[in-house]
Amino acid sequence: MSVTALPKIELHMHLEGAAPPAFIRGMAREKNIDISRIFDEKGHYRYADFWEFLKVYEAACTTLQNPMDFYRLTMAVLEESAASGVVYTETFLSPDFCGGRDLGAWREYLHAIEEAAAEAEAKMGITLRGIVTCIRHFGPQKARETVHCAAQTKGDFIRGFGIAGDEKVGNLEDFIWSFDCAREAGLGLEVHACEWNGPQEVRDALTHLKADRIGHGVRAIADLALVDELAEKGVVLEVCPGSNVALGIYPSFRDHPIAEFDRRGVKVTISTDDPPFFHTTMALEYEMLNRAFDWDEGQFSKLNRTALDAAFCDADTKAKIAKLLGAA
Ligand code: ADE
Ligand code: ZN
Repeated sequence: MSVTALPKIELHMHLEGAAPPAFIRGMAREKNIDISRIFDEKGHYRYADFWEFLKVYEAACTTLQNPMDFYRLTMAVLEESAASGVVYTETFLSPDFCGGRDLGAWREYLHAIEEAAAEAEAKMGITLRGIVTCIRHFGPQKARETVHCAAQTKGDFIRGFGIAGDEKVGNLEDFIWSFDCAREAGLGLEVHACEWNGPQEVRDALTHLKADRIGHGVRAIADLALVDELAEKGVVLEVCPGSNVALGIYPSFRDHPIAEFDRRGVKVTISTDDPPFFHTTMALEYEMLNRAFDWDEGQFSKLNRTALDAAFCDADTKAKIAKLLGAA
């Protein structure tokens, strides 16, 4: 079997970041919003670097204005994921973009997202779970409102709490209150760290926020003592190689440290982050990793089992997905 045809598990994808550009253009047209500046002449998202990417991302989000928009977005995204062979995916959801962190509004957005997820599962056999995510550059005060939304809606679908956004703004320590609250609510904890900052960021994520999983984590490779510690503690990295290459952190897949982490015993998993922004899909990630490192079916199966172990869903869901992976 070609590696691209394997069933896949994805742990790190931003729902709004997975919006196809044509979908966002349609939303903008319906609402008479002019966001033509965020697209290039080919209709792709246009940005020069990560910081501009965040601005384009937020501009795209302004076209998503009600629960039905998120229902449609969820369907569009899951169709793409299912076409790539993804059988289980966890997505970051931000109440900031779903009713401005108002709990009542958030419940309505979430209801629409869950409805689409259930429909997609019945039609396409793909299972979705949500991780409520605060945005670091929006600050710790807003994160408190976000974690309130997360804790109040924890259930079969909302399984985790995370932090994304600009790593160069503020400190992870500023978010201790929110992460303590999320942990007490029984949510799994995910922290974007070491995508832009150095190894200390992963140490902070583990020490201060007690993260279960690290989003990216790739710059930890500069500190081999930390890499050994990650391996010993079994910390899972949600690695997004195509995202890192598209944003210029590494010149190519061959230069990406994912294989080195794997060789050193760190638990790595594979995700797309914001697939259309980075011109990637899960199938393409597998193909590029196969080409760069000669990773075969056995290697991808190992990584999928790691991802399933680290997934935030309940045991029954894991058992069901394990069967789809052929690992039961
Ligand atoms: N939000 C969406 N994509 C992101 C990324 N790669 N890093 C941080 N925040 C994000
Ligand atoms: Zn991310």
